Amino acid sequence: MERVRRLTGIDLSHYKRPQMERRLAHLRDRRGFSDFASYAAALSCDASLLRELVDRITIQVSEFFRNPERWADLKAKLEVVAASPFRAWSAGCAHGEEPYSLAMVCAELGLHADIWATDVDERALEQALHGVYSPRALANVSPDRLQRFFEPTPEGWRVSVAVRQCVRFERHNLLADPYPRDLDLIVCRNLLIYLTDAAKQRIIAGFSQALKPGGHLFVGSTEQLVGMDACGLRLVAPFLYQKADGP
Ligand SMILES: C[S@@+](CC[C@H](N)C(=O)[O-])C[C@H]1O[C@@H](n2cnc3c(N)ncnc32)[C@H](O)[C@@H]1O
Repeated sequence: MERVRRLTGIDLSHYKRPQMERRLAHLRDRRGFSDFASYAAALSCDASLLRELVDRITIQVSEFFRNPERWADLKAKLEVVAASPFRAWSAGCAHGEEPYSLAMVCAELGLHADIWATDVDERALEQALHGVYSPRALANVSPDRLQRFFEPTPEGWRVSVAVRQCVRFERHNLLADPYPRDLDLIVCRNLLIYLTDAAKQRIIAGFSQALKPGGHLFVGSTEQLVGMDACGLRLVAPFLYQKADGP
């Protein structure tokens, strides 16, 4: 864990141990190392081995409008409560499908959005910035949205310039770096499930501080979160929390 932390900045002690150990043992065995010590030593001098490890740790599966019914709920809520300028953070954004989905929703609502999209993995962010996707990532994109927000290119479907301009990508480690303030919305989906309860609690408390009073936190559809009340966050729709609007 110490070697991985030094090489990647990712502290594995915050991730659920049994799953992580199983995934990494599988990778280690496949590469022919008999124990973690020899595998860790090899990581220092083999960039492709390290890259493979980071991919395995970070699990960058995503798609546009993942769980479409939850995105419909979010849009309905924002239609009522959101105003321009709208400041949002997509934390753990993988290849950008999530912040771009949010930018599209904001465009449909006529909101002037400033979306900060972050991930611990820089290579995922490079792909996000490029903004080109295979049809598989677009399975939940309606024909109207496809026409309005994407353009076909020989490499795949590219997100339009207008949508890309609403999103700023930056590397950020949720377990090590400072959080912004005064946000209207935080989207953090399908990341917390991989973390220990203690790490999750720390992040939730940080999110609560980062939100404006009345701001919202949108989490993944498999995430069972406890201790939200203690952080001043109230469930207002499935997997959507709101920060108390005053002391
Ligand atoms: C399964 S993907 C989720 C992508 C997207 N949010 C979604 O729901 O479709 C999890 C993402 O969290 C990122 N991640 C993992 N640990 C992180 C950390 N400590 N700080 C920031 N991002 C992290 C991974 O690199 C990965 O891109």
